[in-house]
Amino acid sequence: MLDFKSLTKDELINLKTELQKEYDAIAAKKLSLDMSRGKPAASQLDLSNGILNSIKSYITEEGIDARNYGILCGLKETKRLFSDLLGIPSSKIIIGGNSSLNLIYDSIARLYIFGALGSKPWGKLDKVKIICPCPGYDRHFAILEEFGFEMISVKLTPDGPDMDEVERIAAEDEAVKGILCVPLYSNPDGTCYSDETVERIAKMKTVAEDFKIFWDNAYGVHHIYKERKLKDIFAACEKYSNEDRVLYFFSTSKITFPGSGVALLAASERYVEEIKMRLGIQTIGYNKLNQLSTISFFKNADGIREHMKKLADLLRPKFDIVLTKFEKEFSENNLLRWTKPDGGYFISVNTIDGCAKDVVKLAKEAGVVLTEAGATYPYGNDPHDSNIRIAPSYPNKEELKEAVDVFCVCVKLASVNKILSQK
Ligand SMILES: Cc1ncc(COP(=O)(O)O)c(C=O)c1O
Repeated sequence: MLDFKSLTKDELINLKTELQKEYDAIAAKKLSLDMSRGKPAASQLDLSNGILNSIKSYITEEGIDARNYGILCGLKETKRLFSDLLGIPSSKIIIGGNSSLNLIYDSIARLYIFGALGSKPWGKLDKVKIICPCPGYDRHFAILEEFGFEMISVKLTPDGPDMDEVERIAAEDEAVKGILCVPLYSNPDGTCYSDETVERIAKMKTVAEDFKIFWDNAYGVHHIYKERKLKDIFAACEKYSNEDRVLYFFSTSKITFPGSGVALLAASERYVEEIKMRLGIQTIGYNKLNQLSTISFFKNADGIREHMKKLADLLRPKFDIVLTKFEKEFSENNLLRWTKPDGGYFISVNTIDGCAKDVVKLAKEAGVVLTEAGATYPYGNDPHDSNIRIAPSYPNKEELKEAVDVFCVCVKLASVNKILSQK
C-alpha cells in the first residue's frame, strides 16, 4: 500500500507535474458530464413507458370514478399494492401525491404547527434538535434547516447510525425530537441498518415524549447486487409501545418516473387518523389516476419486484464501471476510500482530509459536475472536507467511463497538492 504522505517533496513535485499534464489534456476536451444528482437515465425511464396508457378503466375496485373528487388517502388497491410490497398494513398507509419529500416536509410542518397526538407544536418550543446520521441526503438537511431545527450529526457506521451516540443524545435532552433515517441503501453511503440498529431505534429511551423516527425508505426495493432485508420498524416499535414514533415514507420516484410517481406515508393507526383529519383540510384528495395507472401497470407487488430486477440490470454495469476503476486506481494507495453498496443509487467516497472541495472544483473546471462537497452533511459542512457523493445512474456507460476517469485524475491531483502544501 503506497502512502502518498511518505513521498519526498521532489517525488511529489514530479507526480504533480505529470498529473497536471494529464488534467490539462482532459480539460482541453471541454467535456460536459453530470454525476451530480441521482436521476435515472432515459433507458431506465423507458422501462416504465407502459404506465402512460395502462389505465383500462377509471372505475376503481370499490366502484369509485377515479376521474372525480373523493378518496382522501388512497385507493384500496394502491394501498394493498404497497402494503404487500413493504409489509405495512393498509390501515397504516396514506397514499399521497407525487413526492415523498413533499410528505416529509408536510409531516414536519404539521409537527411544527400542530404537534402530534396532543403534544406541544414544535414551532412553539425554544429549540428543536434532530439527529442526522451522516453522511446523508442534502434535501433532508435543507428541510430541517428551513424550520430552524438544530441538526446533530451522528456518524453512520456500516450497521446504521452509531447507536451508542444516538441513545445518549436522545436520552439526555428533551429538545431532541427525532432522527431522520434512510434505513436501506442510504443516500449516499448505501448503508443498510442492521436488525439490532432498528431494534435499538425502536426501543431507545427518549426524553421527548413526542420523539419521531422519520423513516425515509426511499430505496427500500432498490437491490442491485444482493437483496438486503430491513427489519420491520412498526413491529419493532409496537413491541416497546412506541408505535406513534414512526413516520414512514416511500415513493415510486426511482421505480417509475421521478416527480410523476406515487408517494406514501405510513404511521400508527392512531397517528394516521390525526394526519387524515389535517390532510382533509389541506386537500380534497391526491391524484387517483396516477394511483390507478401504477396499479394497472404493475398489477401487484411481484410486478414491482420484477421491474426492480430490470432496473438493477441497467444500473449494475454502471456501478461496476465506477467500482472497477476505483479498485484499479486506489486499491494500492491511500488516496480514496469508497463504499460498495448492495443497492440504492449512490457510491460514496472519502478523499484524504481537506480535499473534497478541491476535487469537485477541479472536476467542474474539467467539465464534470459532481454533487457539491459538503452537501452530505448538515449546513453543507463536512468536518473533514472528505466526502463526495457519486451518482452513476444518469450518464450513459461511455460518458460515465469518461467522467470517472476525470474524477480519478482530480482526486490524485488534489491529493498531491494537499500533501505538498503540508510538506
Ligand atoms: C433519501 C431520499 N429521499 C427522498 C428522495 C426524493 O423522493 P421523492 O421524489 O419521492 O420526493 C430522494 C431522491 O433522491 C432520496 O434520495
